[in-house]
Amino acid sequence: MADATDGDTRVSLLLRAVRPYGEGDPVDIAVRDGVIVAIGAGLDVEADEVVDGAGGVVLPGFVDLHTHLREPGREDTETIETGSAAAALGGYTAVFAMANTDPVADTAVLTDHVWARGQQVGLVDVHPVGAITVGLGGERLAELGAMADGVAGVRMFSDDGKCVHDPLLMRRALEYARGLDVLIAQHAEEPRLTVGAIAHEGPQASRLGLAGWPRSAEESIVARDAILARDAGARVHICHASTSGTVELLRWAKAQGIAITAEVTPHHLLLDDSRLQTYDPVNKVNPPLRESSDCAALRAALAEGVIDCVATDHAPHAAQDKCCEFAVARPGMLGLQTALSVVVATMVAPADGGAPGLDWRGVARVMSERPAQIVGLPDQGRPVDVGEPATLTVVDPDASWTVRADDLASIAENSPFDGMTLPARVTATVLRGRITAFDGKVRPL
Ligand code: DOR
Ligand code: ZN
Repeated sequence: MADATDGDTRVSLLLRAVRPYGEGDPVDIAVRDGVIVAIGAGLDVEADEVVDGAGGVVLPGFVDLHTHLREPGREDTETIETGSAAAALGGYTAVFAMANTDPVADTAVLTDHVWARGQQVGLVDVHPVGAITVGLGGERLAELGAMADGVAGVRMFSDDGKCVHDPLLMRRALEYARGLDVLIAQHAEEPRLTVGAIAHEGPQASRLGLAGWPRSAEESIVARDAILARDAGARVHICHASTSGTVELLRWAKAQGIAITAEVTPHHLLLDDSRLQTYDPVNKVNPPLRESSDCAALRAALAEGVIDCVATDHAPHAAQDKCCEFAVARPGMLGLQTALSVVVATMVAPADGGAPGLDWRGVARVMSERPAQIVGLPDQGRPVDVGEPATLTVVDPDASWTVRADDLASIAENSPFDGMTLPARVTATVLRGRITAFDGKVRPL
């Protein structure tokens, strides 16, 4: 038994009967001062609070590199408080809130506010993503250094929702980012190739009469940015990779030693453009749902590590922006509370009976360890071990639940998984030794 209780048997939290990484027999995890102090079977300690893990899998807390929380500006669809609740219930202990709010998070005043409000709510660390360009305008660089130096210590910048398509501006952003040791995350979409586009360009869009968004719009920017990052000696992160061609470009770039990383969303792993049949805008998202061959390539790439991690692109939208004709509906899908279940359904216990791409160690890698490393969070994505932060997620791997969009913690209800029965469920989330969610309920500060 690993033990660092130093003879003092009183601890703040005892997680009973959990299986680190789903391996071996159940053990207890004792926590004091936010740190794991002992792990072992049947620990004999007194605890302020005991939580029965019921033999569930315990993993490092999940880290989402791509969340839209809509505060400030669209608090009718999500706030930092409601989004934090969705995150904690989904097993997340850190999320990165994208900059496309209103006003845009392009100044330290804004990014520091987002961080402070997240800490006040206390359910999850809400790291603000700073805008790369002023107002997401794609014309002038925002003050990256001031945001990086602020209280929030911004470490990731993105114009997500929009692509930094001017190659000279992207080059400059990468050069500054290198100097500041921060990450540039690109929404890869060559805008000249997606004018009017609303669905993946392919036979399905043709049949339905929807203007097509070609794979080349994404892939041309991924290829270009890999080369710009190489020459700037900078790191670049590709948001929501969605095509098999992007996978091949990532494989090529990584083989060259280029510091490129990428994420895939749960929805691009599970859903394809056959969903568009009904013209229901809940299936409208940017980049669009692609073909089943793309889903297969994305799953294989995630298993192999060519795609580094899963990120939700949680994108709440109001009913009036979704319940309207497909062409004018806003793109985006809720994702925080369903991510783990979709990853299990596609990667751990594939519903189609295919071979698993990931075991629970693999889930820890793609949902927690890699995202924490990519963005440089020292206290997240750590091993489940004595002396490490008690920042953890407990999962019931045998659960099965039916998603009800109106039961999710988000204000908006645009979940494409509504009505689906999915495997596995987060039963508890622990942030620095404090329970933030348990048994489907959050515990704010
Ligand atoms: O579908 C999307 N929705 N893709 C994006 O890039 C932005 C996001 C949003 O903000 O709604
Ligand atoms: Zn995006």
